[in-house]
Amino acid sequence: MLGGSGQVGVGLASSLRAAGHEAVVTYYRTPVPGGVPLDITDGRAVGELTRALRPDWVLCPAALASVDHCERDPDLAWRVNVVGPLAAAAAANDQKASFVYYSSEYVFDGSEGPYGEGDPPNPLGVYGRTKLAAERGIPERAESYLVLRTTVVYGPDPQEKNFVFQVLRALRAGRRMRVPLDQVSSPTYGPDLARASVRLLELGCRGTYHVAGPEVCDRYTFARLIGETFRLDVSLLEAVPTATLGQTARRPLQGGLKTEKLEAFLPGLMRTPSQGVAALKQGLRLETGRTAGKGEDE
Ligand SMILES: NC(=O)c1ccc[n+]([C@@H]2O[C@H](COP(=O)([O-])OP(=O)(O)OC[C@H]3O[C@@H](n4cnc5c(N)ncnc54)[C@H](OP(=O)(O)O)[C@@H]3O)[C@@H](O)[C@H]2O)c1
Repeated sequence: MLGGSGQVGVGLASSLRAAGHEAVVTYYRTPVPGGVPLDITDGRAVGELTRALRPDWVLCPAALASVDHCERDPDLAWRVNVVGPLAAAAAANDQKASFVYYSSEYVFDGSEGPYGEGDPPNPLGVYGRTKLAAERGIPERAESYLVLRTTVVYGPDPQEKNFVFQVLRALRAGRRMRVPLDQVSSPTYGPDLARASVRLLELGCRGTYHVAGPEVCDRYTFARLIGETFRLDVSLLEAVPTATLGQTARRPLQGGLKTEKLEAFLPGLMRTPSQGVAALKQGLRLETGRTAGKGEDE
């Protein structure tokens, strides 16, 4: 798996192994135990590794996943999100392996979500354009592939970058946090995304799937849910319009991903935001052996 040190990659490795598969993972800047260092923009290294391992599946959560970073450095975004993955898709195909690419809700413009797999994409920024370019290039290079579009992934994350950890850090520090009320999406519990990825591969599914949580909600409502679940002071959360946040890249506002296609194969696998945040809280408690978060009374 390419990108085994990121939020999605760590979950994928754990789901693959839990299902009895062997998983070799690569990392770029953040070493993982037993991982292989790899820069996905180095096509020769990607080819050599793929030939050496002869995998059945090549999963590629490796990406420049920061939307604003992509906007500031479109060349890097293109190399990491398009050129590298397309070379990896070709290398996988040479070994008769299936290729899995992680794409995003950001291929849509957010004018009238939630979106189905067949709705016309229209990305607003560099990140979404790179994701769409890779989506379109993969079928030309790989006979057997999955494009899994997801969004607002939260859950266990060794680098603690995802939105849940951002909210927890602010509320635990007693700091106010401005959260957009007008960004609507489908929060996705990371371990479910990982499990669904593995099951889709095991079932031999191919093509494009939306793998996202089953409920659409705005960011402020989601932040409140996080605060309330962890019993923190949600009055520190301030609902604001996206336009006031000064973000570099434009965001699709009325987004969200329809998941009926996934549901037909894996009914009930994806957790709602309240189920997912509760599962994360439980997981953190088991991990640390203590209650997570100042202000909790359990
Ligand atoms: N998180 C979300 O909410 C979300 C939403 C929609 C789609 N997605 C997609 O899901 C995938 C996984 O996202 P994520 O949240 O796991 O992102 P992440 O936590 O930022 O992880 C990105 C991974 O890519 C690796 N990487 C970065 N540059 C690389 C390079 N030049 N060569 C090789 N590997 C490189 C990183 O390695 P190091 O950490 O070792 O540097 C890390 O393993 C991405 O394709 C992303 O676009 C994510």
